[in-house]
Amino acid sequence: MLIITTPTHSLTDTTLDYDPETQSLWIIDQTLLPHRYQRIALIELTDFCHAIASMQVRGAPLIGITAAFGLALSLRPNSPHSAEQAYQALLATRPTAINLRWALDKVMSAIKAQPQDAFIAAITMAQQLRADDIDHCAAIGLHGVDLIKQQYQQKQRSINILTHCNAGWLATIRWGTALAPIYKAQQLGIPIHVWVDETRPRNQGAHLTAWELQQAGIPHTLICDNTGGHLMQQGMVDMCIVGSDRTSANGDVCNKIGTYLKALAAHDNQIPFYVALPSSTIDWQISDGLSQIPIEQRHSDEVLTISGVDEQGVARSICINSHSPAANYGFDVTPARLVTGLITERGIVPANSIALAALREQL
Ligand code: MRU
Repeated sequence: MLIITTPTHSLTDTTLDYDPETQSLWIIDQTLLPHRYQRIALIELTDFCHAIASMQVRGAPLIGITAAFGLALSLRPNSPHSAEQAYQALLATRPTAINLRWALDKVMSAIKAQPQDAFIAAITMAQQLRADDIDHCAAIGLHGVDLIKQQYQQKQRSINILTHCNAGWLATIRWGTALAPIYKAQQLGIPIHVWVDETRPRNQGAHLTAWELQQAGIPHTLICDNTGGHLMQQGMVDMCIVGSDRTSANGDVCNKIGTYLKALAAHDNQIPFYVALPSSTIDWQISDGLSQIPIEQRHSDEVLTISGVDEQGVARSICINSHSPAANYGFDVTPARLVTGLITERGIVPANSIALAALREQL
């Protein structure tokens, strides 16, 4: 694995870049953010599996496209792995985000269609998925910004948006899903303020979303995960926008643990609750998210410790309890009835089977 520390970066950067000369994929090591911005190159299949499982790359679209390159690069001449072995190893890295299987299946289809040029076919497909993700997230931003604009036209003041986890550009190639409408609103000069849930235990909100928004100069405030309900009762949230790791064909939304509680509070306070996702996040094979989506359970150490840097900037992990067992469910499912709408690359779609079937026809 090659490592390069980059002192500067820009929001027009992309999160994944393929280098054809070295046949490697450059990623941002997200486990180091916000304290260190470091790009690393993934070369071997084990690098790719480790990067996804350890969450150096995370977020449903980014996991999928990373895996697509991992599968493609495992077809290099003299590779010790067959495509099937690489497919299974990558698929086993994380269970919940459907984009992983979706992207691997796309690469496998490309290989099967062109077996004599399997490597070229696979890399071309991975590059295509990467390019499509940029387009789809930009389109999500354009559809979603209309919702923010409507709120601004009614209220004529800064619009307060609550988000959970990180569904920003770090979770995709560019723009993000839930944050794409927010970036587009900034471009249009619509005043906005974002409430950022810290998102224990991995703190994707505190570490990643807050960092992205700060880099972009978007007003935001970091809050503990339990704060959203209070803010909603006090009229301090105009809308919620979150991402998704897997949405079932009936519109149930699986996303980072804690999303469901925000949706319940939003429903109780008549606050619109939107989910932004590319159609690659929809699992057309399942029609009941609650019973059919596998929920990742990660190591209890993530709950029992808190990570950060000390005053000297040295990374530290502090134990908060060394006596009790801990459970670490990574995701939960928000039933479709609590979702105001799905912001997709094709437009805003109601979260129900009929509307989603109509969307599928267009794909
Ligand atoms: O465990 P993570 O960080 O991979 O979880 C990510 C999320 O839950 C995101 O909200 C989701 O993937 C949408 S990303 C555009």
